[in-house]
Amino acid sequence: MDNEWIISDNSLEEKDLLKNESLFNVSNGYLGVRGNFEEKYPENYKTIRGTYINAFYEDAPIQYGEKAYAFPETMQKIVNVTDSQDIDIIINGEKFSVFQGTIKDFNRYVDIKKGCYIREIQWVSPLGKELKIKITRMASLKYLELFVINYEIEKVNFDEDIIIESSINGDVANFTDENDPRVGTDHAKILSVKSITAEKEVMQIVSETENSKNIVAMTTKHKCDAEHEVTVEKTDKSVKAIIKIGTESRLINFTKYNVYTDSRRHENVEKCGFEIAGKLSSISFESLREKQEEYLNKFWSLADIDIVGDEKLHQGLKYNLYQLLQAVGKDEKSNITAKGLSGEGYEGHYFWDTEIYILPFFTLCYPELAKGLLRYRYNILDGARERALEMGHKKGAAYPWRTIIGKECSSYFPAGTAQYHINGDIAYSYVQYYLATGDFDFIKEFGAEVIFETARIWLEIGHFDKGLFKIDAVTGPDEYTAIVNNNYYTNVMAKYNLKWAVKFYNELRCKDQKTLEILSDKIGITEEEVKNFEDAYTNMYLPYNEELKINAQDDTFLSKAVWDFENTPKENYPLLLNYHPLTIYRYQVLKQADTVLAHFLIEDEADFNTIKNSYDYYEKITTHDSSLSCAAYSIMASKVGYQNLAYKYFIETARLDLDDTHGNTKDGIHTANMGGTWMAIVYGFAGLRIKEDYISLSPKLPEIWNELSFGFSYKGNHIKVYMKKDKTEIISEGKSLIVLKLNKTLYEITGSKKIEILN
Ligand code: BGC
Repeated sequence: MDNEWIISDNSLEEKDLLKNESLFNVSNGYLGVRGNFEEKYPENYKTIRGTYINAFYEDAPIQYGEKAYAFPETMQKIVNVTDSQDIDIIINGEKFSVFQGTIKDFNRYVDIKKGCYIREIQWVSPLGKELKIKITRMASLKYLELFVINYEIEKVNFDEDIIIESSINGDVANFTDENDPRVGTDHAKILSVKSITAEKEVMQIVSETENSKNIVAMTTKHKCDAEHEVTVEKTDKSVKAIIKIGTESRLINFTKYNVYTDSRRHENVEKCGFEIAGKLSSISFESLREKQEEYLNKFWSLADIDIVGDEKLHQGLKYNLYQLLQAVGKDEKSNITAKGLSGEGYEGHYFWDTEIYILPFFTLCYPELAKGLLRYRYNILDGARERALEMGHKKGAAYPWRTIIGKECSSYFPAGTAQYHINGDIAYSYVQYYLATGDFDFIKEFGAEVIFETARIWLEIGHFDKGLFKIDAVTGPDEYTAIVNNNYYTNVMAKYNLKWAVKFYNELRCKDQKTLEILSDKIGITEEEVKNFEDAYTNMYLPYNEELKINAQDDTFLSKAVWDFENTPKENYPLLLNYHPLTIYRYQVLKQADTVLAHFLIEDEADFNTIKNSYDYYEKITTHDSSLSCAAYSIMASKVGYQNLAYKYFIETARLDLDDTHGNTKDGIHTANMGGTWMAIVYGFAGLRIKEDYISLSPKLPEIWNELSFGFSYKGNHIKVYMKKDKTEIISEGKSLIVLKLNKTLYEITGSKKIEILN
């Protein structure tokens, strides 16, 4: 039944069930529920039963063997909150379960056009009772607190009563895996139940985290269209409603409305929970479903992208964009975690993944949501300023490598705090947003402060050496090389950060003296400091190797031995799970794109030959052990003219989770890679770049495709690109004057216009 909108998987094998819990998560950026079965699996099956609220966290102490100065003492961790998924259907003592009896028909799928996850089952119980059941779930995109489950039940060959047992359960724990650093290793039991309401009309469990004292209320109401009686049972951690349906109903429609309210967003979580549940349960499931579809119609009209000629990849692409929408935080308290709200990998933390891999999609297709992500970074600026002081810097902001509320959560500084490039990445994303939207008001209000504060750090950690500005003891994106001097990526991003700090300062001085005064009063930025920014960026040292004619990844990288790839068995990848970090650090081996990524982000710092030579060099020694790698290699393969390679890497990104190519989708989907899929098309195959005064495109349609089309907004205009086998068409609609460079020709466009070029 699969197509671009429907992704199905009916496997009942244990390992597939676990993976599909992530793939079939329903989330809305506020809450996310894994695709567990309401009626549960057999007891001996592994499961990660999970419900998460974006940015709802616990403070967990970090235990160090040898703790040094300014190591973070605690980390924040996403919490597996109260479980509202449990529903059992019982006929004469027999419980519905696809693991017993006979399955006559079974379809399990997510409909990404409608925003629902569905199971349709025709089942005969061991004693011969036949049922048709359709279970539909949604995390409402309109009402963010709501996770709703609807059952349509048909009794096929019997008249007896049906009992529906629907529970909510506060006895929950986080998932841990002590052998995988990408998953939490400690702190499973986080939440304790504070109060329980068990009434026929409404059930509620209020729980609190031990250290952070964050409170979550989970409020449930039921609606059943058939004659029924309800009784309620409770324990000290759970409540169960027992709904007995009369014999006369053949068709039963039952809805469970689950409302999550939390103390980070709601004033009085209990009261708010009752109120919201009361209000939302008066809306029929059908009407909620229609609203969901309306929301998605809008999303798909903005995230307008189609591949003609390759259904599997088209499906992968659409699925990935859908997951980004599901994962993205829709308030300024939250961002987008490395795994969305689909699992506990990386403990619900936000990384540079957002700025470099995910924001490009939102900036160009859904600027309103992009704004929220940028505002989040502004909101944690105070935490970043504190961290800078803690790190011994006199001023500026040092954004945490991984965090939820702004504090550094990485306990392994060589691949955490040392990744200062996150400052440059955040600054870059503000500039890109500005270049794409022209929204200078946003820069005045939020961006300038972030860019000045991030820029300051480079002066703190860099220094002049024989007239060149150098940055020592940092780690670049490639986490298989740590604590180096002059990582090309970091230096080039720092240069951009400093340059734009100077530009915005000058622009404010000319256009808006008042804002500049307010900012100067607030953060003490001065002309003299800005002059220092200028000196640093104009003299920034960017390592280059004359012999190889490439940008060196850092000062010592090219003098190390090359990793022995030939004698590394396949099962030893990812290397991080099989070698001590020091072993890895001694060699030329990359976890992910580093210099190659820098050549994409800031392409004007290197000439084409350097970019191509560097690509050839680094591609051979990159393991792509990080899911962030392939997209960057695909984009740059397109740039240097390796069409087949670009396509190969694109395939890796498009179906990474659907095909579980990294083997860890069970811990959650890979959101950065998902943004990377879109980038590999738009920046790769179409060659889009957002320059200071214009946008450029250099389309190269993969041979195997018949057509590729996508839309995006640029300075308020909607631009639609159609890449066909024989020609490219660009249609621009809107009022702004825009300058577009197509291949080598510049076009000035006002109003609605179509440009067509033959290939
Ligand atoms: C990558 C990082 C990334 C993190 C979260 C790591 O494996 O090396 O670059 O930020 O995963 O996705």
